Amino acid sequence: MSDTGATKVVSVTGASGYIASWLVKLLLERGYTVKASVRDPHDKKKTEHLLELDGAKERLQLFKADLLEEGSFDSLVEGSEGVFHTASPFYHNVSDPQAELIDPALKGTLNVLRSCAKVPSIKRVVITSSMAAVAFNGKPLAPDVVVDESWFSDVVVCEKSKLWYMISKTLAEEAAWKFAKENGIDIVTINPGLVIGPLLQPTLNTSVEPVLKLVNGAERFPNTTYRWVDVRDVATAHILAFENASASGRYCLVGRVIHCSDTVNILRDLFPALKLPEECADDKPFTPTYQVSKERAQSLGVKFTPLEVTLKDTVESLKEKNFF
Ligand SMILES: NC(=O)c1ccc[n+]([C@@H]2O[C@H](COP(=O)([O-])OP(=O)(O)OC[C@H]3O[C@@H](n4cnc5c(N)ncnc54)[C@H](OP(=O)(O)O)[C@@H]3O)[C@@H](O)[C@H]2O)c1
Repeated sequence: MSDTGATKVVSVTGASGYIASWLVKLLLERGYTVKASVRDPHDKKKTEHLLELDGAKERLQLFKADLLEEGSFDSLVEGSEGVFHTASPFYHNVSDPQAELIDPALKGTLNVLRSCAKVPSIKRVVITSSMAAVAFNGKPLAPDVVVDESWFSDVVVCEKSKLWYMISKTLAEEAAWKFAKENGIDIVTINPGLVIGPLLQPTLNTSVEPVLKLVNGAERFPNTTYRWVDVRDVATAHILAFENASASGRYCLVGRVIHCSDTVNILRDLFPALKLPEECADDKPFTPTYQVSKERAQSLGVKFTPLEVTLKDTVESLKEKNFF
């Protein structure tokens, strides 16, 4: 264990989530005392895997908090040096995007930041934003296009395609920057692509689902391009963004952009015995690949895990947890 954070107290919102569970694990391993919020501290499915982490007994405290409850995060962030705001709904089947995705993302982020603004000990708030708030601005994507931190998704463009999750993350990030500027709070955003890797929580999360579908008997693969990143790299980037005093602004985090067909090819090499889809779901040309700049992430100290390792660990984790 490093003694970097031996005496430091940090807070994590949405601690039961896929990314946050890894963040809590790595923070505990680094010696931090972690105040972690969940919606229901009595829901074993959401908390057991956290309470079993090394160091949890001594240095993990659970708090109850909801994004839509005013002041809900006051006691969570009280006395912390750093706050990691990861909580935000991420799922596809929504019937009321405003109530289910946009309000919790946007109002929730402001709610968390308002709690932080009252606590002088907080040096920095690291916010889990997304490539969803970066890449959807209507600019065409192609192999020679490099997406970087200067891009911001455009809500009007997203509305036309009903990209509600993208809208929720874009509005939340925009509001966070505005609030931080007006209230003198030091924030940094981490903007990951589609996050995969081993699961700590017992339930399936949205971003790992496409991998499960591929290995679980799908006849065809979708005509889509993925911007994959390893969950362990994402959790590490959050910690680096807090520990590195000179970190600032946004950090895109994408290890590799590849079409789904190439993802299937890698899976076939890794797991020759698995039945994998051979055909694309439509006859259209494959959606293009593009590049996402790694410059800022690497300057922060992020070392991207090779996609082959991430995919292997993802599939093995899904198998071990009996998802297929
Ligand atoms: N996974 C990805 O590919 C990806 C990529 C880029 C950015 N992100 C961002 O990363 C963060 C974590 O996502 P994840 O993939 O780890 O998803 P996840 O496993 O679904 O976690 C989402 C977390 O948000 C919490 N949450 C949702 N609504 C809430 C509310 N009203 N009040 C309090 N907490 C609430 C959930 O709590 P419950 O457990 O109580 O539901 C859960 O802990 C999100 O901000 C997401 O937008 C994810």
